[in-house]
Parts: sequence; structure tokens; C-alpha cells
Amino acid sequence: MRYTPAAKELYILNRSKFTKQMADHAIAIFHSNDQMPTSADGTMPFIQQTDLFYLSGIDQEESILLLFPQAKEKQYREMLFIKETNEEIAVWEGEKLSKVEARELSGISTVMWLSQFEDALKSLVPQFETVYLNSNEHLRAKVEVETRDARFARWFTTKYPYHKIERSQPILHQIRTIKSQTEIDQLKEAINITEKGFKRVLKFIKPGVMEYEIEAELLHEFISNRSRRFAFQPIIASGYNACVLHYIENKNVCRDGELVLMDIGAEYGNYNADLTRCVPVNGRFTKRQKEVYNAVLRVQRAAMDMLVPGNTIIAYHKEVGKIMESELIGLGLLTRTEVKKQDVNQPAYKKYFMHGTSHHLGLDVHDYGYPDMKMKNGMVFTVEPGIYIRAEKLGIRLENDIVISDKGNIDLMKNIPIEVEEIEAWMAG
Ligand code: GLY
Ligand code: MN
Ligand code: MN
Repeated sequence: MRYTPAAKELYILNRSKFTKQMADHAIAIFHSNDQMPTSADGTMPFIQQTDLFYLSGIDQEESILLLFPQAKEKQYREMLFIKETNEEIAVWEGEKLSKVEARELSGISTVMWLSQFEDALKSLVPQFETVYLNSNEHLRAKVEVETRDARFARWFTTKYPYHKIERSQPILHQIRTIKSQTEIDQLKEAINITEKGFKRVLKFIKPGVMEYEIEAELLHEFISNRSRRFAFQPIIASGYNACVLHYIENKNVCRDGELVLMDIGAEYGNYNADLTRCVPVNGRFTKRQKEVYNAVLRVQRAAMDMLVPGNTIIAYHKEVGKIMESELIGLGLLTRTEVKKQDVNQPAYKKYFMHGTSHHLGLDVHDYGYPDMKMKNGMVFTVEPGIYIRAEKLGIRLENDIVISDKGNIDLMKNIPIEVEEIEAWMAG
């Protein structure tokens, strides 16, 4: 494994958080992601299903986790089924997890081969009344491809039609929002690697470099530091491209006098960093760029202070909108009259700041949690206001990752240069 796995105690704790909320006489079943195909015999790099990973630490395809806290026999209370390995598989695909390794990673004593799953489940059928099934209920997800969890749900409900079904997601959408210290440590490592990448490109960017060359520098730094990939498709957007919110082509040349927006993050052990910085291609901000940049920075700092236990993303985003409104008036982009006449459902600031301010961050970049949920200690959020002025070919977003704490929020990105003067000094040095 390229990364250092978290200690098994994390997964033992996560499972206990889940099982505590299960109904009586119930089992829960979680499947890994599929190894996704491309075409012919090609495959995409494997990325683990994050619920299975959260509950087991197992980062291998074709794995199943079964939880049955009230099973009569202790060895059936937690079971892990993994792909059988043998010498031939080891020659072609490299080593797969042995039962001992899977046990050590997950803290689950009963590890069996995948081929034993159906029989094991059958032997438990008389003992349970309810099965918790997993599905993708993420608010922003577009679910078009059938997952292993979905295939299993179809198989199970056909084979055992008279058991009660419960959804695992309502539980997971609560427990995954609060990060334990071990999870925060994994996130910190993803952020440290991201910081190294960002500092590397601060020395690399100059007029004439291509956006994809910046991407390549970042990937080099990430992979050299035991990240396996970008946490999400990186956005390296110079000039006008920064106003295209999901610009991922990264194909243009960075020109003298422009800014380049970088929305980037490294993955580490399946945890994700999410950073945005904007820097001048020639190393010096113009007066106008600095004005807009500092307006975004003020909004970001004010927003960070509003991420407090008890607030909700919905209420918070409305308040951030008001601060943004006054900054946009200050920049001459909105007038007070426009603001007075605005439709409350479509506030005027949205012309320049059209996305949300924050999302949960963790094993998924847009991690679990609903916008009306109360903020709590241990939640991790991004804070990412932006101003996008198409007429000026200028787009600025600043994004940090924050842990909520009633002793004062922790900015996990506080070491990553953000002030205009810091950025200029790093680029000059
Ligand atoms: N990079 C994805 C986001 O900022 O939400
Ligand atoms: Mn981002
Ligand atoms: Mn983000």
C-alpha cells in the first residue's frame, strides 16, 4: 500500500457508531465499488466505495462487509469477505490481501473468501428480520451506473422477499459528518501534500507555461509524496477560464498580466484535500486584481468565523451572501439600487458569486451531510467564496479546509500562502 493505513481502532469505532443505530435483529451489508471498465479490456484505476472503507479500512475490489451485532454466535457479528488470492493471481495482479492482513487492517476477526458469502448469509437468514442496504443517496450524485450494492439489493430482495429493508444512508449521513482525530490526521496529510504541490508551482508559474504543465507539476509532487491521484479533476484556469466554474481542460497558455486559478487537492489514503488559490502569472498582482482578491479574502475570513456549532449551511450561506453583496458594491460591480430591487430568491450577488460557500469534506470531496444539518464540533468544511467577472476576464476563488471546534475553528490550510504579499514573495523567491 502506498499510504500508511489508519490504525484499525478507527474502523472498530466507526462500526460501533453504525451498529448502535441499527434496529433489533438486523444485518447490514456493504459492497466495494466495481473495478470500472473503459473499453476492450481496459479498466479505470480502482477507487474504493467510501462507506465500505469507512467501516472496514479495506481498500480492495470485490470485498463485502456484513454487520450483525445481535448474531447468536460471536464470530458472525462482523464478517468480511475478500477476493480469494492464489499464486497465479499474485503473478498477474500482484499481491491481494491475505486473511491475516484484512484482519489486521479492519479489526474484524472473521474473514472469509468471497465464494463463501452466499452460504454464510443463508445460514444467518433465520436469525435476522431486517437488512440494511446501501445505496448512493448523495444530494448531488447522478446515479446512472448500477453499483455492486445495487446489484446485491436486487439479488437479495428477489431471493429473500419477506425480510424488512432499511436504508444505511441516513445513519451514514450522520456519523460520517463528524471526523475523529485519526481521520483529521489523514486529511492533514492530504493537505500537507497539496501544500507541497502548491509551493512547487509557485516557483514554476511564469508567462508562457501551459495550464497542463502546472497540472503535471502538481501530479509529480503529489505522487512523489504517496498520494495516488488528484482528489478531483484539477482546475487550472488562467484568465477568462477562471470564470468557467468547472473548467477542467487545462489546455491554455498562461499569459503575462493574467491570474491563474488553481482548484486542486491531493488524495491520501482515500481522504481528500480541497484547495483553491489564484496567483498572478508574472508574479505580481495588478491593482485591480489585488482589489478583487482582497475582497474575496475578506469574505472568506468572515465566513470562517460563521462556521460555528449550531449554525446550518443554509443560514450561513445567506449571511455570506450579504457580506459578498457589500464587497461587490465596494468593487463597483453592484449598485445599492440593484440590491434594493433584487428578488430575494435570486439575489443580485449571484451574478458574480454563483456557487455555494462550503461543503463537507472527507472520504468524499463533497462529503456526506445535509445543508439543514446543525454544525457540530469535528465537522470539516471547505470555505470557498469567489468573484467571477467575465467582462474583466477575471475569476477569483479562495478555498481553505476548516475543522469546527467550539474552542476555535482549526484552519487546516493556515500554512498555505494566501495573502497577496506572501504569494508574491513565494513567486519571487
Ligand atoms: N474542487 C471541488 C470543490 O471545490 O467543490
Ligand atoms: Mn475546490
Ligand atoms: Mn470545494
